[in-house]
Amino acid sequence: MKIIAKEVIADCPGAKIVKLVLASAQISQKAQAGQFVVVMVDEKGERIPLTIVDADSQANTITLIFQVVGLTTKLLGALDVGDTLYALVGPLGQATKIKKYGEIILVGGGVGIAEIYPVAKGLKAAGNKVTVILGARTKEALILEKELKSLADKIYLLTDDGSSGEQGFTTVVLEKLLKKDKHDLVYAVGPIPMMKKVSELGLASKIKTIVSLNALMVDATGMCGCCRVRVNGEVKFSCVDGPEFLADQVDWEELEKRNSMYRVKEKHICKLKF
Ligand code: FAD
Ligand code: FES
Ligand code: MG
Repeated sequence: MKIIAKEVIADCPGAKIVKLVLASAQISQKAQAGQFVVVMVDEKGERIPLTIVDADSQANTITLIFQVVGLTTKLLGALDVGDTLYALVGPLGQATKIKKYGEIILVGGGVGIAEIYPVAKGLKAAGNKVTVILGARTKEALILEKELKSLADKIYLLTDDGSSGEQGFTTVVLEKLLKKDKHDLVYAVGPIPMMKKVSELGLASKIKTIVSLNALMVDATGMCGCCRVRVNGEVKFSCVDGPEFLADQVDWEELEKRNSMYRVKEKHICKLKF
């Protein structure tokens, strides 16, 4: 759980993104694409889920990439090389089904780019043709561009302000690609409105579309019920049944409501401490 390396990979208004390499022999041996860990920065802190972006079973390390959005990510981002986390649990969640599908489009929005990276890597290694669409607010916040360029067959970059790639939304490019050619799978991680739109486009094109949901989690082992989502009319626990689900089966309105449940409190706590 010791921090072996730290890099601030983006630091611009509205997006501070930090990469941490942590020593964890056990998790690094077991981690698979699509899984996550739960981190506690200190004894009295909350537990937050973060995707395992990379795992090196030779070096016994795992890599996390997170955006500083509130109290816990601020505390985590303030740690340095040599510091130790209070607790680290994982790997958690169902792994991505890595197999040969054919032609795949992966869509990553904001820090969701970090979450599609291990999946893109696994799917490429399984012999799929991989197209990646990345979107961020601005050039500085467009993370892992080099890494994804080197593994993707085709890559599209988009920014809200046009400072890198095209100006606009990932979903506009996705819509064009789905209309133009046949694809076998769409996989998306990003803000809820983006994933919801990707889901509509996948449904309209009758293409299997998978999303990895950022539902609120507490214990992340299926005990508290905090992460419940409605999928195909049934209640599922995102931490143990997910975090991936078929996009067109997700009740997006309910997820949106549940995810904003503590927003006022979160702002309040953040102001108190910093
Ligand atoms: P807060 O101010 O407490 O919250 C800010 C927002 O973060 C909230 O509105 C809510 O949307 C979300 N959030 C807060 N607490 C939780 C929680 N306990 N569980 C889930 N979401 C929460 N973020 C990354 O930057 N990189 C990742 O790789 C990543 N992977 C994730 C994987 C999974 C399976 C899930 C469920 C979430 C992931 N997240 C990731 C989101 C990350 O957990 C939140 O950004 C983090 O918990 C925010 O905590 P905070 O105290 O700094 O912010
Ligand atoms: Fe508690 Fe999933 S986080 S059941
Ligand atoms: Mg918090």
